[in-house]
Parts: sequence; structure tokens; C-alpha cells
Amino acid sequence: MSTNATRSHTFDGIEEFDNRLPNWWLWTFYGACIFSVFYWIHFHTIGTGALPGEAYQLEQREAALRLEQQLAANPVTDEMLLKLAQEPAFVAEGKALFQDMTHCALCHRADGGGLVGPNLTDDMWVYGGRPMDIYTSILKGRAADPANGYMGGMPEHTSKGMQFVLRTTAYVLSIKHSNVPGKAPEPNAKREQ
Ligand code: HEC
Repeated sequence: MSTNATRSHTFDGIEEFDNRLPNWWLWTFYGACIFSVFYWIHFHTIGTGALPGEAYQLEQREAALRLEQQLAANPVTDEMLLKLAQEPAFVAEGKALFQDMTHCALCHRADGGGLVGPNLTDDMWVYGGRPMDIYTSILKGRAADPANGYMGGMPEHTSKGMQFVLRTTAYVLSIKHSNVPGKAPEPNAKREQ
């Protein structure tokens, strides 16, 4: 519905037509306004919807849970532990447990650089750096064995349960080889590739 009528003002000799906006445009605009009211109420006023950030977190969490359930049916293996170490939500939970001062951080430092216990971010391992070695160190602990040069002092974590051990193992695997400057390798540690 265009006419050749122009609006009254001009600027630098530029004039403007005075056409009515097409209906399809107007209705799209009104529709968007109405939609925004419901959107705002749903996501921000009563909070019944998950915003993209939250929805992403939820999805990650569900994926980690699904994987955990699938894996719980099978025995623990290197492959399973490596898979868990690639789940961001799982590793984040392991990190929180690890960095809790009543758990691992007390002896291995919050960043894993080592204090009383060895640096877990280098490639030198006393008991081996394979996923199953790390899992066993955490689950069963490592007792002193002076005759064979092991200082021991790593407590067992069976009482904390599988969930705890799997999560902290996944976190240790995720920081392995990140080479945080920290405690020098133990004299009896071996290099692992
Ligand atoms: C009371 C102190 C202490 C606490 C708490 C502790 N560790 Fe240790 N950890 C040690 C010591 C000491 C060793 C070294 C034992 C040895 O060399 O015989 C060790 C060894 C290890 C090893 C084997 C390292 C290697 O070189 O083979 C891993 C893996 C490990 N700890 C992970 C953890 C995790 C994960 C936690 C928390 C769930 C934890 N530790 C809690 C003291 C501790």
C-alpha cells in the first residue's frame, strides 16, 4: 500500500515517504511483544524455565549420570576411567572433592602440586600413572613398605564409596601431565609416558 506522499520534514534535501508498515511486519512485531511478556514471566519472574547456561549444566549433569549408570554395571577398567575423565561435569565434581581440605588437598595441595603426598601433575609416579593405578592408590591407599623403599602415608578411601573414588580419580587423570610446579618427584618414582 504505497503512496507517493512524503513526510513534511527534509534533511540535507533528503525526503522520506510516508508509507504504512505492511501488516505482516506489524503482526510479527506485535507477536514478538506478546511473546516477550510470556518469555520474561516464564524465565525471569517465576523461573519455571532453565536459561541456556542452566540448561547446559543440567544436560551435562544428566549425561554424566547416564554414563555412570551404564558403567556401574561393568567392572572398573582403564577405558571406563578415561571416559569418565572426559566428562566435564564429572571432573568438576571430582575437583570440588579433591580441593576440599578434609580430603586430598591437605596432602597434595589444592592444585595437585604436592605437599606431604607427591605431585600428581608431573609424569613421575611411584605406583604408576595408568588410570587403574591411580584408582587403586586412591581406593586402597598405599601403606609404608620401608624394605622396598615405599614411604606410604596415602590413606585408603573405600569408606568414602565408589562415587567418591571414581570422581577423584577422574579429576587426577584430568590434571595429570599439567606439570604444576610443586613437590620434586619422589626418589623411587618412575617416569611414565
Ligand atoms: C594424609 C595425607 C594424604 C591424603 C589425605 C591423601 N593423600 Fe594421596 N598420597 C599421600 C602420600 C604420602 C602418598 C605417597 C605414598 C608413597 O609414596 O608410598 C600419596 C600417594 C597418592 C597417589 C599415588 C601417587 C604416585 O606417585 O603413584 C595418588 C594417585 C594419590 N595419593 C591421590 C590422592 C587423592 C585423590 C586423595 C584424596 C581422595 C589423596 N591422595 C589423599 C598422602 C595423602
